Amino acid sequence: MRHLIEIADIPIHEMDELIEKSLDIIANPDRYSDKCHGKRIATLFFEPSTRTRLSFEAAMQDLGGNVIGFAEGSNSSAAKGESIADTVRTVECFADIIAMRHPKEGSAYVASQNVDIPVINAGDGGHNHPTQTLADLLTIHRELGRLDNLKIGCCGDLKFGRTVHSLITAMSRYDGVEFVLISPEELQIPEYLRSEVLERNGSTYTETTSLKHAIPDLDVLYMTRVQRERFFNEADYIRLKDSYILTPEKLSAAKETMRVLHPLPRVNEISTAVDRDPRAAYFRQVKNGKFIRMALILKLLGVK
Ligand code: NCD
Repeated sequence: MRHLIEIADIPIHEMDELIEKSLDIIANPDRYSDKCHGKRIATLFFEPSTRTRLSFEAAMQDLGGNVIGFAEGSNSSAAKGESIADTVRTVECFADIIAMRHPKEGSAYVASQNVDIPVINAGDGGHNHPTQTLADLLTIHRELGRLDNLKIGCCGDLKFGRTVHSLITAMSRYDGVEFVLISPEELQIPEYLRSEVLERNGSTYTETTSLKHAIPDLDVLYMTRVQRERFFNEADYIRLKDSYILTPEKLSAAKETMRVLHPLPRVNEISTAVDRDPRAAYFRQVKNGKFIRMALILKLLGVK
């Protein structure tokens, strides 16, 4: 692995290694605090972000390295018409590794083809978000002690939600994982995930519109927001945005051991009253995102 563009680029044993490395970082942070001394990450964000960009930056700083970058494409020469290729060739002159988020699917791949330093996809349009998935996997592992033999409900915008696309791709490789895909009919997963991922891996999955019916059997409930910025018209967004709202009452039908994950940002889909429930793991998930990004940076930079 030289770049991380899609979650499918990481073989399962390397995913497990990244999780092990993160657990070691969590247990022994001091051992890692100087590992990236003299190294610099560039965070190139052409789309809004809070957690992903800040966690990449915090990860590099906790490894003793430095950070440069921009949080808005409109502040960069992209606004003057510069291509992604020229932007990353420039950044390569100053940095050792790039994390990039861009609204166009395939943009991180294009970037990776134009530089000799590692490129990490921090979200490319509605396609993939592999480092969010690594954070999700570490969270499931820490909360439930395993990544196999789980029933995972993915709920919300499964059509445009890139985090769900990467999560399904990663988890369908573990044994005994069963998916319950909960969405309005218009926001079901893209066809390629059905044919090229779920069916190819022989994964069991069901599709439903009812969160209420699905919730009692789940080990993990992965909530997502309806992706307003990817809709073609506002009226459809308004009609669909509140399709699912997880409340304490709905959660009362779930197992005590179930965990609620959400990549965040949350809009309306989880009532804030749920935050007090020990099953709500989404802020712990944010923290895990920093640790696994530390592990990933070490791996891609070849730091021992
Ligand atoms: C997600 C994203 O950007 O895809 N956020 C994140 O990185 N944690 C989810 C979202 O925006 O809904």
